[in-house]
Amino acid sequence: MKTKICNIMIIFFVSVSFAFSQVIETVTLPEPQKTGGMPLFEALNLRQSLRDYTIQEIDLQTKSNLLWAAFGVNREDGKRTSPTARDWREFDIYVVTAAGWYVYDAERHLLLKMSSDDRREYAGRQDFVHTAPLTLIYVADYDRMEGASDEIRDFYSATDVGFISQNVYLFCASEGLGTCVLGQVDRDKIREVFKLRPGQRVILSQTLGYPE
Ligand SMILES: Cc1cc2nc3c(=O)[nH]c(=O)nc-3n(C[C@H](O)[C@H](O)[C@H](O)COP(=O)(O)O)c2cc1C
Repeated sequence: MKTKICNIMIIFFVSVSFAFSQVIETVTLPEPQKTGGMPLFEALNLRQSLRDYTIQEIDLQTKSNLLWAAFGVNREDGKRTSPTARDWREFDIYVVTAAGWYVYDAERHLLLKMSSDDRREYAGRQDFVHTAPLTLIYVADYDRMEGASDEIRDFYSATDVGFISQNVYLFCASEGLGTCVLGQVDRDKIREVFKLRPGQRVILSQTLGYPE
């Protein structure tokens, strides 16, 4: 059993490294803080979309907590804070900041830095996205949704992303951050700029920052 788990982990890490072969740096995230926060009903009461942000950076601990809340591993079997159909776990979260762009590796809870270029202008069409400190791009990997038709893949990636996005909304409400989920994104441009593979699909983006 142990050997089997070990083999699965090796295959996973090799496939992650292969899938994101242009990694220039691995950024270790601090342990996510999994206790505390605002009572759920207070967070629900504050949940809203915001489009005016200061340029204040989001610190690494908050990013760690945010990504874990969004789609981190919350059980020993690797399952996540957000559900996915058939446990496909098909989402990769691209993290776009002024200091560069990254892919969140949930299994190891770290950021794979892909570039030091500021690509925020491509993360969403609206002006506030271009100056806000951070935008997440939710990218579904259709290659992980084995045995499904493209219609089923479209349907489930569109539903699964909603859970991730709502986790981020509630996290932001709890932390005093603002956020707005975005359907208005140039998917072809994102595909080109963020060097997506043919099996990957841009579903939505979500911008975050401190309220103006
Ligand atoms: C799938 C989806 C796509 C959205 N796309 C955008 C968008 O591109 N730009 C934007 O400013 N707001 C976008 N929104 C936010 C909605 O406009 C917002 O949720 C709605 O106005 C209700 O406001 P509230 O979130 O504050 O309750 C989107 C929301 C959803 C659920």
